[in-house]
Amino acid sequence: MRAFPFAVLAGIFLAACSSSVRPAEQDGTDLWLAAGKPYGEVLASVQTAIDPALPAEGFHIYDAGGARHIDAGSEAGLRYGVYALQRAEALGQAGPGMDLQEKPFYDLRILNHWDNLDDTVERGYAGLSMWEWTAAEIPEARIRRYGELCASIGINGSVLNNVNSNPLMLDAEHIARVAKIADILREYGIKTYISIKWTSPIALDGLKSGDPLDPKVRAWWKDKADEIYAAIPDFGGFLVKANSEGQAGPQDYGRTHADGANMLAEALKPHGGIVMWRAFVYAPTSPDRANQAVEEFLPLDGQFADNVIVQIKNGPVDFQPREPFSPLFGKLRNTKMMMEFQITQEYLGFSNHLAYLGTMWKECLDSDTYRDGPGSSVAKMVTAVAGVANTGQDANFTGYVFAQANWYAFGRLAWNPELSAEEIADEWVRQTFLKPEGMSQKAFDKKFVAPVHDILMASREAVVNYEMPLGLHHLFGGTHYGPAPWDRLGRPDWTPAYYHKADSAGIGFDRTKSGSDNVDQYNEPLASTYENLETCPENLLLWFHHLPWDYKLASGRTLWDEICLHYNRGIQTVEGFRKTWQELKPYVSPALWEETDRKLTIQANDGRWWRDANVGYFQTFSGRPVPEDVEPLRTPIDSLIFRVLLSDRLGMPQHDEEGNPIIVSMRRFRRP
Ligand code: GCU
Repeated sequence: MRAFPFAVLAGIFLAACSSSVRPAEQDGTDLWLAAGKPYGEVLASVQTAIDPALPAEGFHIYDAGGARHIDAGSEAGLRYGVYALQRAEALGQAGPGMDLQEKPFYDLRILNHWDNLDDTVERGYAGLSMWEWTAAEIPEARIRRYGELCASIGINGSVLNNVNSNPLMLDAEHIARVAKIADILREYGIKTYISIKWTSPIALDGLKSGDPLDPKVRAWWKDKADEIYAAIPDFGGFLVKANSEGQAGPQDYGRTHADGANMLAEALKPHGGIVMWRAFVYAPTSPDRANQAVEEFLPLDGQFADNVIVQIKNGPVDFQPREPFSPLFGKLRNTKMMMEFQITQEYLGFSNHLAYLGTMWKECLDSDTYRDGPGSSVAKMVTAVAGVANTGQDANFTGYVFAQANWYAFGRLAWNPELSAEEIADEWVRQTFLKPEGMSQKAFDKKFVAPVHDILMASREAVVNYEMPLGLHHLFGGTHYGPAPWDRLGRPDWTPAYYHKADSAGIGFDRTKSGSDNVDQYNEPLASTYENLETCPENLLLWFHHLPWDYKLASGRTLWDEICLHYNRGIQTVEGFRKTWQELKPYVSPALWEETDRKLTIQANDGRWWRDANVGYFQTFSGRPVPEDVEPLRTPIDSLIFRVLLSDRLGMPQHDEEGNPIIVSMRRFRRP
């Protein structure tokens, strides 16, 4: 008999194996609960006990006397324990002798829904509001599913409506409706909160003023709090956007943020409620928007009531693909601080682009503020975490299976900010995508889990590169989906030109001591690190410095060349994702494979649009050629400049059949 060489035999064997591999049928509606056993089944498999000696939301999973036990400090802790066991089982980490004791790092782990009473969602890319405000009945089944998903990752609070709030949220009809939602969420250990509009007493009851020191205004809020608590005894409290982006607030009456927050805090205090007062404030008159939160809030440090927590966006400007951490985290000492992350991808390609944000949030949480000396990480400075939700009525909740990873990562980091972005990515992939029939776990790990994990880990940097590398920021137009670096019309701090400051001499925002002096809002050694060109991290270079086009970077290449190279690298990375995804086809359900394939095509095309618009526009200042080792620009700048992407009624971007963005003249653009 003729002997086959080993390689040939192995090839025949592998082909036989892969032909018997059949991908599981999935449509993404099970999210990360796809691979685990049902909750009830896990619960039935263990002996449970409430042990008041354990932390309230904590649990202990262990084996004793031939049985598996979960002891917990409360019903909520027990639920977290059951979900932790479900996760461990799905990840193959629940073998005999398991011993896992956990409690959450933060007490408040809250989703902020920017949902409006007309069912639209501000910066929502997964359909209309999941709460269905305009329907006759609340959507109970969806709310229950949401409750399970949140509880499974430890989220324990939900602000139901937009920070740009509607006063009607506080009328009797809506309080009754919120109470119905709260009744369901309570079953999953989730407290309900609402965003309030500062002018509610004026709009709802004709008060003449919103002055927080006016006794009539104070009485109104006290009565309103009493009314809410009569309907929702465990109501969480208010989230407030005041004196920000056109919203009224205490400053309209010559009062401070502290006066405003404390007035609401006093009304909520007897009931145990809290005020989350946002620090997202800026005025068009300031020379540097990045300085404003510290300028307004530092003088108020120590003046806030003890049931007020100041909610601060991760960066000093606005949820950009990359920002340094907000300097406020390192400045306030006597004020409770809460992190605000954005889960919805307002600036990272909506629900079209694959951008895993676990890496971005870790970068912020791990940053050292040096407030109390080295080791004062942002994670340690804050006592609570909020995330702007990416949920909607879409059957998969988030509009893209890969956007689910960000909801998951948010919950996991709010539970334990010490988890790594890698671990979370790995957990998510394993729980979300079912192993095909006929495939060993080992083969699945190697052929599917590892490459998808690698895509997730590289994805945020890819977006930074093709949107705004090297510290560039806010180059967005219109709906915040695409580029408009040329835009200089209107309110200056809403235009890209305010941020990139490109001219024939160079590009970047000078935030050094001789510029806006933003560097001095950071504690040493950071102030010097950012000030000094030798030590400023390259990925924040143009955030802190305005530099000449021929400035030499560490690579020895000019700034201009490096800008071009970074844009190119972003596109190449996405092209790499597309190639990998082609290879993964045998292992993933056709529905999820096709959805992702289509979106990755859109992402690559959008990346080229970003590159063509920005490099093409900046080239009008630099006057330099695109280096030879990068892909040439595809579309001339003249056919992009002052043109925008076609959007639908809800602001969702429109692409043609090949996944190319449909660019139209300004006249056809409809602002959502
Ligand atoms: C951004 C966003 C707005 C939002 C605001 C906020 O500016 O574009 O839609 O209202 O942030 O966080 O209040």
